[in-house]
Amino acid sequence: MNPPVLLTCRIPSALLARLNEACDVERLEGPAAPFVLADRVRGKHALICLLTDEVGRAVIDAGQALRIIANIAVGYNNIDVAHARSRGIVVTNTPDVLTEATAEFTWGLILAAARRIAEGERLLRRGAWKGWALDFLLGMELRGKQLGVVGMGRIGRAVAAKAPAFGMRVAFAEQGGGDAASPVEHAIRLSLDELLVRSDVVTLHVPLTPATRHLIDRRALARMKRTAILVNTSRGPVVDEDALIWALEERLIAGAALDVYEREPEFHPKLLEFENVVLAPHIASATRETRTAMAELAVRNVLNVLSGQPPLTPVTLD
Ligand code: DGY
Repeated sequence: MNPPVLLTCRIPSALLARLNEACDVERLEGPAAPFVLADRVRGKHALICLLTDEVGRAVIDAGQALRIIANIAVGYNNIDVAHARSRGIVVTNTPDVLTEATAEFTWGLILAAARRIAEGERLLRRGAWKGWALDFLLGMELRGKQLGVVGMGRIGRAVAAKAPAFGMRVAFAEQGGGDAASPVEHAIRLSLDELLVRSDVVTLHVPLTPATRHLIDRRALARMKRTAILVNTSRGPVVDEDALIWALEERLIAGAALDVYEREPEFHPKLLEFENVVLAPHIASATRETRTAMAELAVRNVLNVLSGQPPLTPVTLD
């Protein structure tokens, strides 16, 4: 009998076929509440899940036969990794394959906010464009400005690496994660406070941990330049959304561009009221190439572990 596997989402058919050759796959249709996951994971040897699946103690304890939990995401704050570890279950994520897609998208958000692209499109669509004018929808030029990268892990470094193309200087803060051994060549290291005070664009690339939850709070926002833009493609709870609303209302920052929110798929309704806020629905890694590569990596991790080989991308807790 093939090992039973629980899959919580659709994956490309070629990958599903590969999985089906070696495993008995049960696929869930749509997002599942933790109690449903706990029920369906019983007896399974592997769980392939998404960042939207809450894999806490109850699910892990129900999965007595689990050997691997393969998250199709680089972030794994949805999984109680320590508890899985204590039960001898391998947890894997999908690093590297989404780095470039996420970095590209981050630059898309930076440009959209700095050059008021989304705001201009909304204006045009509602028929409010009266024609070209010298002082119409003026934005911030990136050339000569400072990009502040918070979290110099793979994605932070990939974002920083593209800064010279826009003539931006780079500062980084290691806060909450990052690889101090390999900062990008042209970047200067600052404390988080200094970075916030001195940067024109602040972009967040830290994992969500207890230490980074609400890293960007009222105090942090108040330190930013009034002309600066905050960009978040990491995890929603890294930014205190209430504090962000306050900072926007008080005009303490010039704008924000967000791909992630504190309580997805919900977000603070007031965010809709600000023309200087760009909102995206958690799609920074959403290219065909990358999402396929993420699913493939998760499948390969499962096939490896179930056949007694080491996982390709295990999550290691520091
Ligand atoms: C991740 O992988 O953690 C992203 O948020 C989605 O690609």
